[in-house]
Amino acid sequence: MNIEDRISELINYINKASYEYYVLDNPTITDQEYDDYYNELLLLEEKYPNLKREDSPTNRVGGEVLDKFEKVTHAHPMLSFDDIFNNEEIMLFDERIRKVVSNPKYTLEPKMDGLSGSLIYKNGILVRGATRGDGITGEDITINIKTIKSVPLKLTEDIDIEVRGEIYMSKLSFEKANIEKRKNNENEFANPRNAAAGSVRQLDSKITAKRNLDFMAYFIPNPEDYGIKTQSESLEYLRKLGFVTNHKLNKKANNTNEIIKYIDDLSKKRKDLPYNIDGVVIKVDNLEDEKKLGFTSRVPRWGIAYKFPAEEVLTTLQEIKFTVGRTGKITPNAIFSPVHVDGSLVSKATLHNFDYCKDKDVRIGDIISIRKAGDVIPEVVEVKLERRKDSSTPFKMIDKCPICNSQLIKKDANHFCPNENCPARYIESLIHFVSRDAMYIEGFGDRIIEDFYNMNYLRSIEDFYTLNKYKDELKTLEGFGEKSIENLLTSIDNSKNNSLERLIFGLGIRYVGKKTAKILAMYYKTMDNLIKADFDELKTIPDIGDVIGKSIVDYFSNEKNINLINRLKELGLNMRYTLMDVDTTNDKINGKTFVITGTLSKPRDEFKEKLESLGANVTTSVTKKTDYVLAGEKAGSKLDKAKELNIKIINEDEYLKMIE
Ligand code: IVH
Repeated sequence: MNIEDRISELINYINKASYEYYVLDNPTITDQEYDDYYNELLLLEEKYPNLKREDSPTNRVGGEVLDKFEKVTHAHPMLSFDDIFNNEEIMLFDERIRKVVSNPKYTLEPKMDGLSGSLIYKNGILVRGATRGDGITGEDITINIKTIKSVPLKLTEDIDIEVRGEIYMSKLSFEKANIEKRKNNENEFANPRNAAAGSVRQLDSKITAKRNLDFMAYFIPNPEDYGIKTQSESLEYLRKLGFVTNHKLNKKANNTNEIIKYIDDLSKKRKDLPYNIDGVVIKVDNLEDEKKLGFTSRVPRWGIAYKFPAEEVLTTLQEIKFTVGRTGKITPNAIFSPVHVDGSLVSKATLHNFDYCKDKDVRIGDIISIRKAGDVIPEVVEVKLERRKDSSTPFKMIDKCPICNSQLIKKDANHFCPNENCPARYIESLIHFVSRDAMYIEGFGDRIIEDFYNMNYLRSIEDFYTLNKYKDELKTLEGFGEKSIENLLTSIDNSKNNSLERLIFGLGIRYVGKKTAKILAMYYKTMDNLIKADFDELKTIPDIGDVIGKSIVDYFSNEKNINLINRLKELGLNMRYTLMDVDTTNDKINGKTFVITGTLSKPRDEFKEKLESLGANVTTSVTKKTDYVLAGEKAGSKLDKAKELNIKIINEDEYLKMIE
């Protein structure tokens, strides 16, 4: 047998063994046999690197290190369902369905607690894995997806297909990852979901490979193209193709009684499952029915996510610590020894404000119950008064700011530090600026921001974008190295391209949350328009009332804020809304990466906007991954780099032909 055939044979053996192990739960070869095949394949690939195949299981160990993840546009938007929390809402959901569909059948699936991913196969070979992102554009994480052993690199049929499912970390792998973290003196993951999210977005795929993630398939966006008629057939087909599905727990239901019974049973089994689930996903089974039901402006009408009630856990209150927020608001926090709540290890919970503490009569030494409020900060739900000991001690509200010692003022239920220059406020606003829903600058923990603030590197938002000048100093700081500072500076640089809503939210305008920021960005399109917005116009926008409208106008009439925005503009931050509807029909442009350089007939931003509206990624530096460089007059080093890397260079006329 020639080498190529042997390689192919070994890949088939290994893939078959994985399929039997992961999908069928029924291995037919021993671990030793598996290792022998694997090692032989590894040896052959080392000896004959040109025979190494894309779908080889040896790719799973990772290796490639990226500078950043490329953005990708989803061919079908990645939506999620509305959440419901009780039986009454299940009945209402069923009633709504029955208005459109007679006698609906449902599929019931455990709601996996991870993050959704999209996998694309061409001719049966995995070619792309992406995160959900904002549902329209996600990130290309193919190299990391390939490390997930339960993701087939090759399907049992040579078809083109997109498959959606949950990327998650099992409870066991989570424990192991945290043991590793402890060993390295690093912060532990709070829960398996955070661990999965952090691991799948690692730029070094070797790290992802070590984390042992899993994938559970649950959805085909265009099932009708495969002759599929129901969601349960989709699930069966996925399993046949080689995906792990939740075939033992997924079930069909004919009515709300069966749904409620399923939820009841599953909530009892939940603790013993090897992975976390946070509810049950209910989908109308028949695809014709799904079509009839369609979508609202945000979510499908044919499905819903039932979320298990938040778990409440008892613990002993050891101490109350006060923190100062961005607006100067003082929050009392309950401190206790760590407890597991809904899969996260928690040692701190909010007591909201002094009135809340007074109402509940909280005392140090009390037994308190903790719950995760929504998805974010845990809160103290109640004090078990009947278990109070004589030794419990009442606590006093502070009257001075714990950071700057200013006299606090009380407004309604809350206390505030009135000092506009209180360091705590600055630090909090910097932490807010880099946070996930704002500019999403990775690598900045709260601690780093606090340290950089105290060392004078970071005093205001704009300082992030000039941090570069301290590069050499920063590299010498304890706990930092060349690589981590480089990564930090790269994520800062990448954040300059964020769409406008992230910046609006990041500025921390009072009452402007993530959702309002998005609405403002969509409505005004550019920061300049938003700055000029007047109160009456703002009030015509859905969701914006007197309070938010006034807060926005106040913010932009403050010269300090306008100066900050101008400075950010000079530093190269994008000031436009760029998450527009994308037309993906132009194959020459869609999915391609462009760099624009030199002087063109119009500002570069206009070219960028047009290209992005046709599904292109427009980046600032020329790399191997660049498909086209659009070069105008007097193009400089980027043009040279493009020539050096043999990247196709186009002028404005050629560009116009391409976008036709
Ligand atoms: S179906 C149109 N099935 O929960 C929605 N989602 O709101 C297609 N999830 O974001 C998703 N388990 O990440 C589906 N069996 C399951 C799921 C599931 C977990 C996640 C998913 C989605 C959210 C549903």
